[in-house]
Amino acid sequence: MKKIFFTTPIFYVNDSPHIGHAYTTIICDALSKFFNLDEYDVLFTTGTDEHGLKVEKAAKKNKTDPKVFVDKVSENFVNLTKRLEISNTDFVRTTEERHKKAARKFWKLLEEKDQIYLSKYEGWYSVRDEAFYQEKELKKEGDKFYTLDGEEVQWIEEESFFFRLSEWGDKLLKYFNENPDFILPLSRKNEVVSFIKSGLKDLSISRTSFEWGIKVEGSTNHIMYVWIDALVNYLTSLDFPNTSEEQFNYWKNCNHIIGKDILKFHAVYWPAMLMAADIPLPKKVFAHGWWTNEGKKISKSVGNVIDPNLMIDKYGLDQFRYFLLREVTLGQDGDFSEHSFKARINSDLSNNLGNLIQRTLKFNAKHFANKMPIDIQEPKKNDLLYEVYNLFPKIKVNMQNFQINKAIEEIFILLAKLNKFMDTAEPWNSIKNNREKTAIDLSTLIESFRVVGILLQPFIPDASNNILNILNIEKKARKFEFLNFKYKINKDHCINEIEPLFPKYD
Ligand code: MSP
Repeated sequence: MKKIFFTTPIFYVNDSPHIGHAYTTIICDALSKFFNLDEYDVLFTTGTDEHGLKVEKAAKKNKTDPKVFVDKVSENFVNLTKRLEISNTDFVRTTEERHKKAARKFWKLLEEKDQIYLSKYEGWYSVRDEAFYQEKELKKEGDKFYTLDGEEVQWIEEESFFFRLSEWGDKLLKYFNENPDFILPLSRKNEVVSFIKSGLKDLSISRTSFEWGIKVEGSTNHIMYVWIDALVNYLTSLDFPNTSEEQFNYWKNCNHIIGKDILKFHAVYWPAMLMAADIPLPKKVFAHGWWTNEGKKISKSVGNVIDPNLMIDKYGLDQFRYFLLREVTLGQDGDFSEHSFKARINSDLSNNLGNLIQRTLKFNAKHFANKMPIDIQEPKKNDLLYEVYNLFPKIKVNMQNFQINKAIEEIFILLAKLNKFMDTAEPWNSIKNNREKTAIDLSTLIESFRVVGILLQPFIPDASNNILNILNIEKKARKFEFLNFKYKINKDHCINEIEPLFPKYD
């Protein structure tokens, strides 16, 4: 079986889960479910980033021991994956022994290749971002310096180990040239390229002024910089350093899905360190955009954080997933508003999808005893069913290119055509004098619902499961290989009672 690997960033445990965490996770889940249904062997990891100054400070603020604190908050993220019905195959916590072992080994490899040296760091640091900044990347107000989005940075001076990042600029640029799809979308790649061209400095990779981190072996007072620690999580789940050849096959097809804010870490530091450690690079780094709330930047201080749990309580899981995946092109920013949310789920899910299935199956129950009326004929080029069966290859290309919203759009364009077909066919009239034609039309629609139900599984898993249950399609016949005429619903196949699929919201 072909192997593929998807990763979310691992989440800082200084905070409760919000829409950003849910978004990244839902994207990976949709991709994982899609490739799983397409007979890929899929690994999908997520997890929590539990070390560093930011987390240590949050624990202190809570007057809790850091380990007790991270255990508690990490649980909230585990619960979010459950609530979102995520299909992750692993959940990596950076405080786990297996991860510490992997991070130490990774450090050792860099050391053995003479990529680490001891010196002193003097410069600006943002605790929020856990990131070092050069002065040219900051703005000055009074005697203070801020990141471009307004976070105050602090000056630090301490002994530190450094990674020879400055040696890797040209090799990275060469790699990006030879692998033009390594960083996507392309606009983000261009950002990375200009960042590298502006000159890379060696990277400080250890801290001595606090303790909450993985100890550097052979040193009494250094802990690893939290980003080195965190990035290694992607290898931890492959049992690094004991990764088998088979596990490396997942790695070669590994796709890091991240937010645009953490691109530099994934597309510069991480590949440079992997090259330096002589480990092959993952396949892709895809940076998605950010959500705003009613046009405003989401922030705790503004108090406009969107809690995924509350959204799911109010509107349902599929509705939440659907909106996030459908509303914006992956890679671009999106605006979340309850108005557009309700408009989107009412028009697409309640009307276009739910209502069509409901009215068709109710009519079929009344006039054809809730059974498949006839055996449909193999469709010809211009038949609607021909288009139905040919949707999958198009969607597959979209998903391979991470165009999730486009894939969903294709399905809903087809649903609009099916609605039109129903309206033109007017079964409520034809049943009076042409029962045979009515039987053909209804059967065409019912078979199309089977295909649509199978195709929608990665995006709205609960509703598609419902649709396929109502159509009485066996669980083992829900993979993409069943998306053709050969597996059509046969005459007299019993259909279950239809239940309402999607409520409408005012
Ligand atoms: N711990 C690091 C990642 C280490 S990966 C080796 C981290 N964690 S985070 O919890 O701060 O962020 C996790 C993700 O949430 C990031 O991908 C970030 O882009 C995303 N989002 C945070 N706010 C967001 C929005 N408002 N909208 C969309 N995603 C955003 O960074």
